[in-house]
Amino acid sequence: MEEKELLSLARGIIENSYAPYSNFRVAAIVETRSGKLYYGVNVENASYGLSICAERVAVFNAVTHGHRDIENVYIFTESDQPVSPCGACRQVISEFNPKATIVSYSLRTGDKVVWNLEDLLPHQFRLEDKSK
Ligand code: THU
Repeated sequence: MEEKELLSLARGIIENSYAPYSNFRVAAIVETRSGKLYYGVNVENASYGLSICAERVAVFNAVTHGHRDIENVYIFTESDQPVSPCGACRQVISEFNPKATIVSYSLRTGDKVVWNLEDLLPHQFRLEDKSK
């Protein structure tokens, strides 16, 4: 998908962010190998610890729809600098693709940063292969 289209999609999705406590709105889009897109926003809770990041919602949405072949994860915020995903989200994405491409945008400035998840989360936790 073209970057311009992706950004305009994200501007719509971030409106659904539920962030009354932090006022920090986040949207995420997961793109699968076949080009399917799944969305997520951060959803906060009065019991703060129950809040969930946009990236995890997007990954769980892809998996719920039967798509585990995550290729790219796009993150959108309205902060001055693009954000990097939190440790919990890195681990969740790496379950499905430790080499996923992470692209983070500031919708305010248009700045963009690209990482490979390998660099953000080396030595991720994996359970031993139980089939051995
Ligand atoms: N948040 C995300 O959704 N993704 C990130 O990558 C960083 C943090 C959310 C969690 C919380 O709702 C708010 O941003 C402030 O931490």
